[in-house]
Amino acid sequence: MQKIKEQISQDLAAAKTPDAVEQVRIAYLGRKGIVTTLAKDTDFSKMTPEEKKSFGARLNDLKTFVEESIAQAKETAMSAGAVKKSTGLDLTLPGSDRRLGSLHPISLIQMELETIFQGMGFMVVPSLECELEYYNFDAVNIPADHPAREMQDTYWMTNGMLMRTHTSANQVRCMERFGVPLKAIFPGRCFRNEAQDPSHENTFYQCEGLMVDENISVANLIAVMKTLLSELFHRDVTVRLRPGFFPFVEPGFELDLQCLFCSGGGCTTCHGTGWMELIPCGLVHPNVLKCGGVDTSKYSGFAFGIGLTRLAMMKYGIPDIRLLNASDVRFNEQFPVFL
Ligand code: PHE
Repeated sequence: MQKIKEQISQDLAAAKTPDAVEQVRIAYLGRKGIVTTLAKDTDFSKMTPEEKKSFGARLNDLKTFVEESIAQAKETAMSAGAVKKSTGLDLTLPGSDRRLGSLHPISLIQMELETIFQGMGFMVVPSLECELEYYNFDAVNIPADHPAREMQDTYWMTNGMLMRTHTSANQVRCMERFGVPLKAIFPGRCFRNEAQDPSHENTFYQCEGLMVDENISVANLIAVMKTLLSELFHRDVTVRLRPGFFPFVEPGFELDLQCLFCSGGGCTTCHGTGWMELIPCGLVHPNVLKCGGVDTSKYSGFAFGIGLTRLAMMKYGIPDIRLLNASDVRFNEQFPVFL
């Protein structure tokens, strides 16, 4: 038995893998294994009771020794394998420099507006960049002889469609699609055939808003605009309405924001006026509601057209509109991924 113990210790020392250890186990404890055979072949009938007792005890001791040695060897072989598999993993190496990228300021402002408006129960509706003349002009009460239709303002497609000149083009589509009452915003790209300079681009972003319901008045418009602006700029804001003309609203307004830099005292940003012209808006013209199939004796609404580009420039202090479309990594990577 002592020999068997020495032998198995040697055999296990040579067995480096779990498979090799298993072979050793079979050789000793298997059906025809050394230990099994020893127990089976012993003729206990020829032993005295004392011999039986002592032999039995030593046999048990041998079995325990063999089993424990094998279990330990198996564990060692398995953890050695694990270490081997993970070679190449050096936890002390510095991490690889993964650049996170950044979001375009227009995307950031659009996402922020969407979150704020969704909080007020508005839905975000997708809209078309290439439109029918009808939705961009006729349906929003822009008559055929309106100057905005002239060639220098609008990009016309060879098929008679056009690149929308404003997100208002989606107003009537939205009413047709969802009916009223309606609370929706539709952000997106607009196009105008304009000469480019630090504050004009031929491609820019707007976010249109439309709310139609019973008893909608200018008070509702002001409340929504104030909520929007105070959430966007994280402070209480003061706004005022001035009359403004747009064919698709009546009355129409320019909503001004009291200058955030000088609080109305007058500074260079607001050109000394104390106010910043920000959001054109108004109550939806009955002609537009009618085009959308809305019963004007029951419903009224307001609409606004936020210049996303302008807002992003204000919020992030961007001095030249052309930076936004320039695809210059040095500019783009200054904006954080997270809001
Ligand atoms: N569509 C107008 C523009 O592009 C903005 C606007 C939208 C004005 C909604 C009033 C109401 O200038």
